Amino acid sequence: MTIGTQGLKAAALDGQRVSMRGWLASRQDRGKLAFITLRDGDGQICVVCEETSMGAQDFLAARTAPRESAIMVHGTARPSPDGKGAELLAHSVWVLPSEADFPISRKDHGPDFLMEQRHLWIRSPKQAAILRIRSSLEFACQSFLHRQGFHRFDAPLMTPVSCEDTTELFKLDYFGKPAFLSQSAQLYSEAGIAALEKVYSMGPCFRAEKSLTRRHLTEFWGVEPEMAWVDAQENMAFQERFIRAILSAVADERSDDLALLGRDTASMVWDSASFTIIQYDEALHMLASSGREKSWGQDLSVEDEECLSMQFDRPFFVYKYPVACRAFYIEADPDRPEVALSSDCLMHGGFGEIITGGQRASDLAFLRARMAEHGLSEETFSWYLDLRRWGSVPHSGFGMGIERMLRWICGLHHIREAVPFARTPQRIWP
Ligand code: 4AD
Ligand code: MG
Repeated sequence: MTIGTQGLKAAALDGQRVSMRGWLASRQDRGKLAFITLRDGDGQICVVCEETSMGAQDFLAARTAPRESAIMVHGTARPSPDGKGAELLAHSVWVLPSEADFPISRKDHGPDFLMEQRHLWIRSPKQAAILRIRSSLEFACQSFLHRQGFHRFDAPLMTPVSCEDTTELFKLDYFGKPAFLSQSAQLYSEAGIAALEKVYSMGPCFRAEKSLTRRHLTEFWGVEPEMAWVDAQENMAFQERFIRAILSAVADERSDDLALLGRDTASMVWDSASFTIIQYDEALHMLASSGREKSWGQDLSVEDEECLSMQFDRPFFVYKYPVACRAFYIEADPDRPEVALSSDCLMHGGFGEIITGGQRASDLAFLRARMAEHGLSEETFSWYLDLRRWGSVPHSGFGMGIERMLRWICGLHHIREAVPFARTPQRIWP
């Protein structure tokens, strides 16, 4: 029977004879013994190679196989000496040897070198754990939204319109016509809700921003739910349920990988007290008390968000930003038209923004005026304006960056480790 590293412990209970396959992550030689760390897609285990139990030829193959060789081992599963896990005593081994000098040694390498070798670096236990957690996070997002009655609605990635800041567009020559890589699926999802009511997209978003920060990528993955008949308050309440659900699913499913990263899953769940909502005005007061004076109307910077989020012990919302700080499509507060019914959800403890969301303008005349202020052409957006001509309803939605959330979950210093192949202003390799 062929089993994976996750099945070895059960097989060790009754000393089963099993086959395992994977890659040789490392080896320690001790005379007539060799200990191979065999890695597969879900973890790693120790293979004990003894000349007496496997014969001279296989023992030699096991002793000489370079790191990262593909190996198949047949042997007996048994409890490991510390009693906590299991190991495999090899009877035979088959090796497809790699070249000798795998570029990533076990000594410390700098981040630039590792990013150059990203296609190989993802094999390391920590990077593989992060990528498994990412997969679980993406599945948790989809699964929660599916259970809540959302339909997945895939938006185009090449578009004639800009959703967010027009200075951050990657331009394309689309058979002679100008086009852009999508910044966000939102505008298309707003079309989707009039057909399917509750939709979400999950896909790449592109931002040509030259920000060299630890939380910006030029290509990131967004999960973006959009809901008809939902106002800004209900939108925030839903975001809270979403965050709680995905974090608890990931904590359950990936507890071993999180432990490997030194993350305590208890820090990913909170008691039932709701996430606090503060208004932008209050945020300015809190910042001023921390020595960060800002005049009303200025957007919050990364440092402001970090400072604010130090003052909370769970995620929280900043609501009602000045209209000027937000995108053209926002709904204004009817009682205070200078503020938008728009929120950011920030992770606590110095982290900052994880989600932007809000209520969308549903009135045609108001939306037109906003577009004029932003210098957007009605011709290009005519299909979007149609959504306000026929069947316009109050509606809201939000977008969460998968890498931002993963960075928080895994406690990563830099967002570049939260995606298999990061794209930043300085990197489009490998
Ligand atoms: O805040 P953003 O720009 O909002 C929107 O795009 C809305 N249209 C979303 C919506 O309402 N459907 O992006 C949403 C989220 C951010 O909160 C952040 O988590 C992530 O996407 N994000 C980035 N992640 C990595 N690198 C970047 N350059 C990012 N820009 C945004
Ligand atoms: Mg934002």
